[in-house]
Amino acid sequence: MVQRTSLLKFIIEEQRHHPHATGEFTGLLTDVVTACKKISSLTSCGGLAEQAMGTAGSENVQGETQKKLDILSNEIFIESTEWSGNLAGMASEEMDDCYPVPSQYPRGKYLITFDPLDGSSNIDINVSVGTIFSIMVAPEGTDTVVNEDFLQPGARQVCAGYCLYGTSTMMVLTTGRGVNGFTLDRSTGDFLLTHPMMEIPADTNEYSINQSNHRHWEPAVQRYIDECLQGADGPLGKNYNMRWIASMVADVHRLLCRGGVFMYPMDAKLQAKGQNGKLRLLYEANPMSFVVEQAQGLASTGRQRIMEVQPEELHQRVPVIMGSRNEVERILGYHS
Ligand code: AHG
Ligand code: MN
Ligand code: MN
Repeated sequence: MVQRTSLLKFIIEEQRHHPHATGEFTGLLTDVVTACKKISSLTSCGGLAEQAMGTAGSENVQGETQKKLDILSNEIFIESTEWSGNLAGMASEEMDDCYPVPSQYPRGKYLITFDPLDGSSNIDINVSVGTIFSIMVAPEGTDTVVNEDFLQPGARQVCAGYCLYGTSTMMVLTTGRGVNGFTLDRSTGDFLLTHPMMEIPADTNEYSINQSNHRHWEPAVQRYIDECLQGADGPLGKNYNMRWIASMVADVHRLLCRGGVFMYPMDAKLQAKGQNGKLRLLYEANPMSFVVEQAQGLASTGRQRIMEVQPEELHQRVPVIMGSRNEVERILGYHS
């Protein structure tokens, strides 16, 4: 039988590369893994967990309708990570402001941002969803964590990843030394290393975008997609394939597995609502950019490396263009 490395063993071995590590980070990651296993178990119940299905009758701070599973996943994530003394605070898509660790628990040195359930429009139709997370160090000298403490550029992340609740449950993460993917063995409850050192091929003929927004896009994105559609007869000289799952986790996971370009670009419809893109910088774009870059891909707003954007607010949005290096570079060329 193949002997596979468990995620816990992998993290502890990673910790040995950091001689001053205290184990706090390992503890935090273990709690994140627990949260994701619980969310995985809940999402896999589908219609059997009647109390978890449907809309919650509320909206998040961004005016989006919350599903019951969005709220439950958020609660599971908090419950699983707040108590162990590794965190100073957290921020999530489903909370208006940050959540400092309650005073009955010891305060740790890390901050975490997360999208507890990404792709929640797919819940009711039994299509893949996921959880995205990003870990940073809390600024020193702050007592109670405030929103401003989270406004750090993505380049300062110490770890980021996602858990995909698909046909199998997979945890994919980076601590800045490549990207590794672990599959949940449901018989033992362990995540086992199945996808070591994942790499996004530099070239691709697959793109991923919500094409119904075509008329609202900027000219650079319209030009690129129009050229893809012309296929071998057009200037790109090859035929393209298109995929859009509408769960960022699932669409980005495909990039990690076989390459491609994923885009949620700036568009006039979003601009009219005062939004600078659709996806959120701190718990969608930054963590996914860290993963994509560590897998040899590129991640840009079209004009700037996503991980260099200075966040100005917790729920800030950014345009996203990420994936296979040569293809992203071409699109950036069209922007400039
Ligand atoms: P969330 O469910 O966390 O709000 O995120 C949904 C996001 C992302 O996962 C996906 O890529 C995109 O929204 C889908 O947008 P469209 O519905 O416009 O296709
Ligand atoms: Mn999301
Ligand atoms: Mn979400």
